[in-house]
Amino acid sequence: MATMESLISLINKIQRACTVLGDHGGEGMSLWEALPSVAVVGGQSSGKSSVLESVVGRDFLPRGSGIVTRRPLVLQLHKIERGTDYAEFLHAPRKKFTDFAAVRKEIQDETDRITGKSKQISNIPIQLSIYSPNVVDLTLIDLPGLTKVAVEGQPETIVEDIENMVRSYVEKPNCIILAISPANQDIATSDAIKLAREVDPTGERTFGVLTKLDLMDKGTNAQDVLEGRSYRLQHPWVGIVNRSQAEINKNIDMISARRKEREYFETSPDYGHLASKMGSEYLAQLLSKHLETVIRQRIPSIIALINKNIDELNAELDRIGRPIAVDSGAQLYTILEMCRAFERVFKEHLD
Ligand code: GDP
Ligand code: NA
Ligand code: MG
Repeated sequence: MATMESLISLINKIQRACTVLGDHGGEGMSLWEALPSVAVVGGQSSGKSSVLESVVGRDFLPRGSGIVTRRPLVLQLHKIERGTDYAEFLHAPRKKFTDFAAVRKEIQDETDRITGKSKQISNIPIQLSIYSPNVVDLTLIDLPGLTKVAVEGQPETIVEDIENMVRSYVEKPNCIILAISPANQDIATSDAIKLAREVDPTGERTFGVLTKLDLMDKGTNAQDVLEGRSYRLQHPWVGIVNRSQAEINKNIDMISARRKEREYFETSPDYGHLASKMGSEYLAQLLSKHLETVIRQRIPSIIALINKNIDELNAELDRIGRPIAVDSGAQLYTILEMCRAFERVFKEHLD
């Protein structure tokens, strides 16, 4: 029997197959919607992209002040046994990126290709896969930040447009929400918590993440939030210290940043007692464990969906006639074969 880890890896593959299928204009996108993913939600510059990077353990996302993330980024992490890390974009298949600075540049360029170099946003996602021995299998979604006002060059509707776009991702019952709030702002004003509470009132799929603990006013601390007294969530809050803009400018790498973050918690008079449950690495573990639980619960309904997809794919193949050569039919056929293989593995897991 396959391990839980390989099951998650299979699910990532199915999501990818369904994305390709969706691009064909075919039916069957429901499978994508049935599988869990993790999305970051929060105000502009709250640290969303930084948190995602930390969970991945690689530097590759555009970060900074202002509206940097202007298209959703759907990021699939695939754990590989060995070898060096590489990335692939769905819009540029077969091109392997091993230079993660180039990945960041491609995200920026691909954002501009759709939105122009303006401050406009687009809800057309960028799809990126990262393969590495040092990640857990996860699908993560980086989203534009929630804002309060339109700035110069943006349409008046932008505040609402962004909120609606973000909501369209996080309202899905299978979306796990990383609600990012900066510790140097009052939690009562958190856009992340406001939206998370709206789409997930019971808090069962919301993880509260408190960033910028290092930027709090001297003499104050976030114990009330981190210990769940300010705003209670079903899952425990996780405090994070990401790199500051000055550290980003100095090219402080991820490994040093994580070491610094660990030291911060271990030596902190305010958070020392919570140190083992704080930080980016702990958040990544927490998420992966939660995903496994969710996926295990979903196996029966995933099998049902796969069967439905197989029926739809068969109908589609009958419609266009088989056998087919190298056209779209061949791709459908491959996906059908993949679905059948997945179904066998899922069934094994149920036994
Ligand atoms: P996003 O707009 O929510 O995606 O936020 P980014 O990840 O792009 O971060 C916005 C800015 O805040 C960057 O300059 C980061 O360096 C800075 N930042 C994010 N998190 C922290 C943190 O925990 N501590 C400090 N000092 N700066 C942070
Ligand atoms: Na930003
Ligand atoms: Mg961002």
